[in-house]
Amino acid sequence: MQSFSCPKSLTKTGSPSCPTKKMIKFRKLKIKQNNNTSNQKITKNLNMRKIIERQGDKMTKFKKLSKVYFSPSGSTEKIVNEVAKSFNMNRENYDLLSFDDEKTFDDELVIIGVPVFNGRIPKTAQKRLSKMKGTDTKTIVILNYGNMEYVDALLELTELLKENGFNIIGIATTVSENSLFSQIAHGRPDENDLKKISEFSKNVYEKIENGDENEIFVGGYKPFVEHEIPQFNVECDDSLCVECLDCAYTCPEDAIDESTPTMTSIDDCSRCSTCINICSEGARSFGGAEYELEKQNATENYMMRKEAEFYL
Ligand SMILES: Cc1cc2nc3c(=O)[nH]c(=O)nc-3n(C[C@H](O)[C@H](O)[C@H](O)COP(=O)(O)O)c2cc1C
Ligand code: SF4
Ligand code: SF4
Repeated sequence: MQSFSCPKSLTKTGSPSCPTKKMIKFRKLKIKQNNNTSNQKITKNLNMRKIIERQGDKMTKFKKLSKVYFSPSGSTEKIVNEVAKSFNMNRENYDLLSFDDEKTFDDELVIIGVPVFNGRIPKTAQKRLSKMKGTDTKTIVILNYGNMEYVDALLELTELLKENGFNIIGIATTVSENSLFSQIAHGRPDENDLKKISEFSKNVYEKIENGDENEIFVGGYKPFVEHEIPQFNVECDDSLCVECLDCAYTCPEDAIDESTPTMTSIDDCSRCSTCINICSEGARSFGGAEYELEKQNATENYMMRKEAEFYL
């Protein structure tokens, strides 16, 4: 080894007490440590890659992601879309406001979202869902309600889906702005709701990846409460209506005649709120003395914030 004077002492570089030698040793140690750390990093990355590859294996079993929803005022659809964000695969939408066909879901992951109407799932959603079948198809269920009560609607929905061959792997009961009385849960789902929903969806993803299988049981009482329709009506302001017919085309009950879109057939109308939300002119609304009374009653009793619940 070439010998030279140590600038910091009079000892020769290479002697055990030489600080430069110590420095070189220290550097070598550092390099070794760094190599170890980068080796560890490489091993970690390889492990991560293996996990990702394994994840890919599990997820590629699904040909696509099918989103099924009944969402007159749009919040259920929004929540279904939030859940869908964790799953990077081709998508198909089944909007139950219009989709009324037989359908079997097979090699796909399914998300089904419906709102609560008077303590039940909406009658039309129930009829249309009854035509949908699974083949032990993995399904995430969203029951969305307006911060009042969901009574036994969760039992009703999960029973129907299980009987029809859907394998429920996750359930969320979520809270959204009340589509009858917008003062209740106004602006929800908010940022906090969406964060929780997103965490739930990631947990479902993990559950699928880990291959966890468990049946989710839901409590409730039967017989279910009778399907009821609110006593108040949908009103239309003739002076605002431009006869675009959007309401007539989207009404799931065919309660609006295309020749007289300002009129609503009270017998057919389920008070679902689709037409109110679709009308760009703001011509349609719930109204009347009965409505004001129910609104007062509801706002007196249901302003306290309720939170989403999750089952895995
Ligand atoms: C006819 C009708 C009945 C409703 N009944 C209930 C109810 O029993 N409990 C409740 O918490 N919310 C109830 N809501 C509110 C909706 O469940 C809630 O606003 C939901 O977010 C609507 O979903 P959407 O935005 O996808 O239409 C009702 C809404 C309508 C239109
Ligand atoms: S959507 Fe509104 S503007 Fe269009 S026909 Fe219906 S009520 Fe009239
Ligand atoms: S008319 Fe009644 S059933 Fe039809 S979209 Fe409007 S609220 Fe819903």
